[in-house]
Amino acid sequence: MKSFMLFSCILMIACSSPTSNKSKYDAPQDHTISKSGAMHKPGLNDPLTNCVSCHGADLRGGDVGVSCYECHGKKW
Ligand code: HEC
Ligand code: HEC
Repeated sequence: MKSFMLFSCILMIACSSPTSNKSKYDAPQDHTISKSGAMHKPGLNDPLTNCVSCHGADLRGGDVGVSCYECHGKKW
């Protein structure tokens, strides 16, 4: 089980590397909507519902440490 998980990690890194030079972040696979190369998760127009669980209740980073406001003004 452990080796399988390690293998999937290596696969994910290998698959995402061709696009990773577009952004300093390595967004999860479910972030499928590209905005000028910055990968956004679907539901981005309602972030206070869809993004707060990882990007923080105030959208300033939370557990993943990526704040919406480092690229956007204070919109939400
Ligand atoms: C299940 C957790 C989770 C949810 C929910 C989530 N994100 Fe993320 N997001 C992440 C992680 C993890 C990263 C990558 C962090 C890193 O690379 O350090 C990330 C990175 C990003 C980035 C930077 C990617 C890039 O290419 O620069 C954007 C933009 C983003 N998320 C937008 C959103 C939006 C918009 C939503 C809501 C619709 C959302 N995220 C919801 C976990 C999540
Ligand atoms: C790495 C930079 C980056 C991060 C982090 C980021 N965005 Fe974006 N986002 C962009 C770019 C670039 C665009 C497209 C250009 C624009 O319209 O500002 C965009 C567009 C959008 C749009 C489309 C509407 C609009 O204003 O153009 C929404 C909604 C959005 N982002 C929400 C979010 C949310 C919510 C987060 C945090 C979870 C987030 N973004 C984090 C770079 C980023």
